[in-house]
Amino acid sequence: MLSVNEIEKLDRDHIWHPCSQMKDYEKYPAIYIEKGEGVWLYKKDGARILDAISSWWVNLFGHAHPYIAAQVIDQVQKLEQVIFANYTHAPAAELARHLVGLFDGALDKVFYADNGSSAIEVALKMSYHYWLNAGVPGKNKFAHIKGAYHGETIGALSVGSLGTYKKTYQPLLLETVEMDGPDCFRCRYGRTRKECQAECFAETQTVLEQRQHELSAFIIEPLCQAAAGMAIYPPVYLRKAHAKCRELNIHLICDEIAVGFGRTGTMMASHQADIVPDFVAVSKGLTGGFLPLSAVLTCKDIYDQFYGDYSEQRAFMHSHSYSGNPLACRAACAVFELFQGSDVLAANNIKSETIYHELTPLLEHKNVGEIRRCGMIVAIELVKDKASGEAFDWRERIGHRIYRFAEQQGLLLRPLGDVIYLMPPYVINDEEIRFMTQTTMRSIREILP
Ligand SMILES: Cc1ncc(COP(=O)(O)O)c(C=O)c1O
Repeated sequence: MLSVNEIEKLDRDHIWHPCSQMKDYEKYPAIYIEKGEGVWLYKKDGARILDAISSWWVNLFGHAHPYIAAQVIDQVQKLEQVIFANYTHAPAAELARHLVGLFDGALDKVFYADNGSSAIEVALKMSYHYWLNAGVPGKNKFAHIKGAYHGETIGALSVGSLGTYKKTYQPLLLETVEMDGPDCFRCRYGRTRKECQAECFAETQTVLEQRQHELSAFIIEPLCQAAAGMAIYPPVYLRKAHAKCRELNIHLICDEIAVGFGRTGTMMASHQADIVPDFVAVSKGLTGGFLPLSAVLTCKDIYDQFYGDYSEQRAFMHSHSYSGNPLACRAACAVFELFQGSDVLAANNIKSETIYHELTPLLEHKNVGEIRRCGMIVAIELVKDKASGEAFDWRERIGHRIYRFAEQQGLLLRPLGDVIYLMPPYVINDEEIRFMTQTTMRSIREILP
C-alpha cells in the first residue's frame, strides 16, 4: 500500500489535473482525500472538509452513501460491464423505466452515454440527424444563449459561450448562433425577479425567427446557467422558449445535467416551466456521484425518424464503450429509490430556506450584489460596487482567495469567478448548514472586510 507521502509525490510527478493551472499546484498541492462520509471529505490527518459544492455538483445524498454503495457492490458481483449494442441487462432496463417516468412517459426513449459532454454530443447529433432523416434540408446550426455551458468536448464546447473554456479552441468549433439570454442580476429591462415576464425573450425570439430555417435546435440550461455563475432565471423564459421553438420547428434541448434531480426544487428544472422539451440530457446527480453515466431522453416521434430497415441507413450510429454500464445504472436506480423512499424535495425546500436565511446578514455587506436561490442552489454575487453592480477586475481573484481561506477553515467552496455558491449534498443537517453558512460569511469578510 502506498503511503500518503508516496501518493502525494506520484500526484505531483505525474498527474495533470482538470481545469487547473498546474503551476498553482506548486504552492497549493492537490489535497489527498482518504474517505468521504455524508457531506464530509476526510484528509490525511483526520481533518475534515465540508463539500459545499457536491464535488462538482454530482453528489446528491452524501459521500459513500451506504444504500447506493450496497447496490453497486451487489451489482459488481453479478455483471460489471457488457457491450450495450445487441445486449441488455436489468439495471439499464429498470433505470429506463425510472427515466421515462420523469416526464410522465412523454419522453419515452432513452439513449445512454457516459458523461455530461457526451450526452450533449448525442442530443446535438440526434437533433441534426432527425431533420436529415425527416427530409427537412439546411438545418445544420445550433442556437444557445450567452453564458451557456454544456461541456468541453468539441461539439459541447461549441454551444457554450464562456470564453475561459472556449476562446482558445474557437477555430476548431462549430459555427453556432449565439443569442442574448436572461441576465436577471443586471436586467436590461430594469425588472426585478418578481415582476419579470421574460421581456428579454423578445430579442431571442427575433433571432430564432430570422434563423429558423437553418436552426436544428436551441440548447439551454433550464432555470440556472450554472457555470456562468449560477445565473438563475425564471421559468417564464423557458416557457416562452419552448412555445417559440415548437412554433418554428426548432428542437428544444434542455440540459439538465447540473440542475436535474431536485437541484432546483423540482425533480427536473423543466417541470417548473411545465414543458416537455424535445431532448433532455441528464448526468452528474443521476448516479448520486458514484459513477459516470449520462442519458438523453427523447420522444417516440423523434425516435421513429431513425427507425427502418437497415438498408435505409437511417440508424443513429453513435456509441461509447461504457454506454449503459451496469454498475452506473444500478447506482442510478438506487438514487431513484432514495427519492421514492422519502420526500427529499420537501426536506430540501426547508434546508434551502434555512441556508438563505442564515446568509441574509451578508445582504448588508458593501460587496454583496445579490443573494439568489433556486432550490438547493444558493449563490452570492460579489461586486466591486453595489450600486452599479460593477464587477471586480478578474485579476484580483477575489473568489479564488475566498476559496483558499474557506478551505483552511474546513469548507470546500469553488467559486465561479466572484460568485460564491452553496450547492451541498441533500443530506446536510442543520448543524452542518450553520457551519457552512457561518464559514462562508467569515471567509467573504476576511477577504473583503
Ligand atoms: C450544464 C452542464 N452541461 C454539461 C456539463 C458537462 O458534463 P461533464 O463534465 O460530465 O462532461 C456540465 C458540467 O459541469 C454542465 O454543468
